[in-house]
Amino acid sequence: MSLMKITSNIRDYEVHFAEKTDFLAGLKKFSQRCYVVDHNVWSLYEKGCLQEIAGEDLIVLPIDEERKSLESVQGLYDRLSARSAKRNMTLISIGGGILQDITGFAASTLYRGINWVFIPTTLLAQGDSCIGSKTSLNYRGYKNLIGTFYPPSEVFIYIPFLSTQADVDFFSGLGEVVKLHIMGGPGKTQEIIDLLPHIIRREPGALRAAVQNSLLIKQGYIAEDEFDSGRRNMLNFGHCFGHALEATSNFEIPHGQAIVMGMLLANIVASFRKLLSDGFRTHIADKVLLPSLIVKPKKEALDAEAIVNAMKKDKKRTGEGLALIMMKEGHEMGRVNDLAESEVTRALQTLKSF
Ligand SMILES: NC(=O)c1ccc[n+]([C@@H]2O[C@H](COP(=O)([O-])OP(=O)(O)OC[C@H]3O[C@@H](n4cnc5c(N)ncnc54)[C@H](O)[C@@H]3O)[C@@H](O)[C@H]2O)c1
Repeated sequence: MSLMKITSNIRDYEVHFAEKTDFLAGLKKFSQRCYVVDHNVWSLYEKGCLQEIAGEDLIVLPIDEERKSLESVQGLYDRLSARSAKRNMTLISIGGGILQDITGFAASTLYRGINWVFIPTTLLAQGDSCIGSKTSLNYRGYKNLIGTFYPPSEVFIYIPFLSTQADVDFFSGLGEVVKLHIMGGPGKTQEIIDLLPHIIRREPGALRAAVQNSLLIKQGYIAEDEFDSGRRNMLNFGHCFGHALEATSNFEIPHGQAIVMGMLLANIVASFRKLLSDGFRTHIADKVLLPSLIVKPKKEALDAEAIVNAMKKDKKRTGEGLALIMMKEGHEMGRVNDLAESEVTRALQTLKSF
């Protein structure tokens, strides 16, 4: 089993890449443990690698975005506080980003923090969210409004879990993985170009390489700015347009796919501003971004006025103008706060011609 060490201002932790599922037996070292498992993961693996999890140690959680709520966390507090183990308990989460957010928030707040181990089972959770310490809940219709910084004490990545993910969720995760590789510079971008056909066929070697690369690149950003007050903000590349597209499509476009479209649009604006050459923009679009898209947005989702209105509501906006994270020539990242509505309209027209 190979290892990545993540330094954190809260506590350092380790990400283990497991070849086999015997790491699950190793978790018995935590005598006071409670497993919280995503319901789909449980039904797929209860008779397989998860069969040794005993009933009294198990909570199976139904998962959808609406359940990323304080109510779900309260339900967990009730179940966990009824157990005899208190501060000495270890919570072991097995699932994707939603399960991570619910259980991470519960682990960080119950008894002011209990030991937490995370086993991510989706491409997004393995290649992105499992590091970085963020836990988030939705509140009154606003996504990720409430949260804490609280890393797991250990993460175990077992790539074969990805073989059972539905395409729509897998490709959503792929969007973030592709984003991280592009942000990682020319070498990592070429690597993802070469890996992409193998990733799409879900070949374990390619998935492992992509997950490992993504985490290493993300680590570079969070190491300097774990609490997201500066450089980590660049990880929102693709998100300014992406969040707006999620909203204008009534969330029919999955998050990671909206991010891919958001990167296409941000690159178009960068080329208008001569920050990116047309040749480079086309190269990134044709070789990485377009092959990662499986969703075709409806016309209404690409309405310029609706997109501008949605961008005005972005919680990361700091002033009067529209904000945009952009990649410049040479993969250098930057942020502008003066994106004009006319640029949005022109960028959407260009995107429609692809
Ligand atoms: N905390 C963070 O740093 C962070 C970062 C990015 C995203 N997120 C959050 O992550 C969430 C999205 O997470 P996600 O993309 O991992 O998906 P998810 O957790 O929404 O899961 C998607 C679907 O896949 C199912 N599933 C999970 N693993 C499976 C497997 N191995 N086989 C079959 N089905 C499986 C789930 O039951 C669910 O139906 C969003 O709520 C987002 O806000 C959190």
